[in-house]
Amino acid sequence: MVERIRHDVLILGAGLAGLRAAVEISRRLGERADIGIVSKVQLMRAHSVCAEGGTAAVLREEEGDAIDLHAWDTVKGSDFLADQDVVWRFVKTIPKEILQLDHWGIPWTRDERGRIAQRPFGGHSYPRATLAADKTGFFEMATLYDTLQKYNRFARYDELFVSDLLIEDGRFAGLLGIHGPSGQTVLLEGKALLIATGGGGTLYGFTTYSQTVTGDGMAIAYRAGLPLEDMEFLQFHPTGLVPNGILMTEACRGEGGYLRNAKGERFMGRYAPSKMELAPRDMVSRAEMTEILEGRGFSHPEGLDYLHLDLTHLGAERINTRLPLIREVCIKFIGVDPIEKPIPIRPVAHYSMGGVECDINGRTRVPNIWVAGEASCVSLHGANRLGSNSTGECLVWGGITGAEIAAALPSLSPASLSDARVGQAERHVQEIAAREGDEDIYALRHRLRATMDKRVGVYRKREDLAQALSEIRDIRARSKKAPVRDRSKVYNSNLWNALELENLIDLAEVTVAGALAREESRGAHARTDFAKRDDEHWLKHTLAFHDNDGPRLEYKPVTINTWKPVERKY
Ligand code: FUM
Repeated sequence: MVERIRHDVLILGAGLAGLRAAVEISRRLGERADIGIVSKVQLMRAHSVCAEGGTAAVLREEEGDAIDLHAWDTVKGSDFLADQDVVWRFVKTIPKEILQLDHWGIPWTRDERGRIAQRPFGGHSYPRATLAADKTGFFEMATLYDTLQKYNRFARYDELFVSDLLIEDGRFAGLLGIHGPSGQTVLLEGKALLIATGGGGTLYGFTTYSQTVTGDGMAIAYRAGLPLEDMEFLQFHPTGLVPNGILMTEACRGEGGYLRNAKGERFMGRYAPSKMELAPRDMVSRAEMTEILEGRGFSHPEGLDYLHLDLTHLGAERINTRLPLIREVCIKFIGVDPIEKPIPIRPVAHYSMGGVECDINGRTRVPNIWVAGEASCVSLHGANRLGSNSTGECLVWGGITGAEIAAALPSLSPASLSDARVGQAERHVQEIAAREGDEDIYALRHRLRATMDKRVGVYRKREDLAQALSEIRDIRARSKKAPVRDRSKVYNSNLWNALELENLIDLAEVTVAGALAREESRGAHARTDFAKRDDEHWLKHTLAFHDNDGPRLEYKPVTINTWKPVERKY
């Protein structure tokens, strides 16, 4: 028996973008807003709490920073694939979001003059990463959560796994999911939906993402007919802690940390002499892999060869005040105190530049569905995101989509949802739950990640990508024979893992198909067999549509209204 729940607005995902949207709808509509906030995890466990280093914004125009400089840095960082109208909107709006959070009570770190502190980040030509120590995401989340408590017209559905996005008569109609604590199948109906479920980085084994982040929102949207855009652009952050991948924030380098190879050299001088360790992430990650592949890294028994992130010259005072989390994590997880010893690091899967296609207002091509944050591809980041532009994106497009939904709601009517459509979605889960065979969900998930780690990494080439695609398809075929062995109703994580595996397989297939087709190197997509950027043929966005035989790829133009592409040097 399906439990039916109805709200005006459903917000799927309770990270920064989702919470910011919930606050915006509530402050605009007050008592007239009836919001359901749906999350796979407990609300304050959204992965946004793990954002560390800062949120980029121009706050010091009188001292030399400028809105157009932030826009240029972002466009150049994107390897010219960002839509420039989107970039302008972002850089003009984010300073207001920083001040708004200040008014809502966030404990921004202060400088010696008592102003909101900022620090350098990669690819930015001014120190504009606004920080709350190295726990920026946590404090942003806590501030939004506190602010939301002022309003009482929202209901929370924590630990609810949404398996299907229901579109009927060409418009949003509902979500079908399983409530973990009760095992109850739930149909959530609404006039409008915001998808804000984050990225898909657990496609990889070595990743900074929480294990809960499995690209669910992107995958259900894709299967429901919405295209995914630019999924081949997956960001590798240069400093993942070896051996577990925990993020060693770029703020370590923003505060003055060095990268050294096994010879003790600050090798970035060879790759980006003007920016050194603060070059954009795609370049630093490629430089690191080159050092490792050419034998100048430290070897690791599990193949996780690494380099050093050296903070020892910064001193205890700076590390304890500006990077306390980094110190705590290093001591707890690997027994290294960064005040005394360098940290072992290597590039790590960190961020999906791609996501659900939408317009500049976060509106998708299906009426009454919006998307914001990492789940979206509003196309702010293009082929390579600059560090500290992602939390800002969540805040800006959480606010924009919240305002849009609030404005649209009075004229929206509830969709009528047919029993046939609901039954089809129910059968989707029932069929996965009823699978038989001798394959193992966890082994397949492990193999999927190992394939992505090995063949779809910082450097790519045709043979590897083709092999990856065929392995992904083999994993998909085998997953149909991977039974859910746990038959219990309550907190059936075995079933959730099977549903997550399906989502990860879909996203992996789209990522690799896009990467195989894109015969050039741009931003985070670096092909050794097509080593140059090719604007003549590839200055365009990839769109992947779901099809029974795999993704169908189409392309659309990049919006270029200010800067024509030039060679990217740092
Ligand atoms: O390094 C970091 O603190 C990550 C920031 C980001 O991805 O924007």
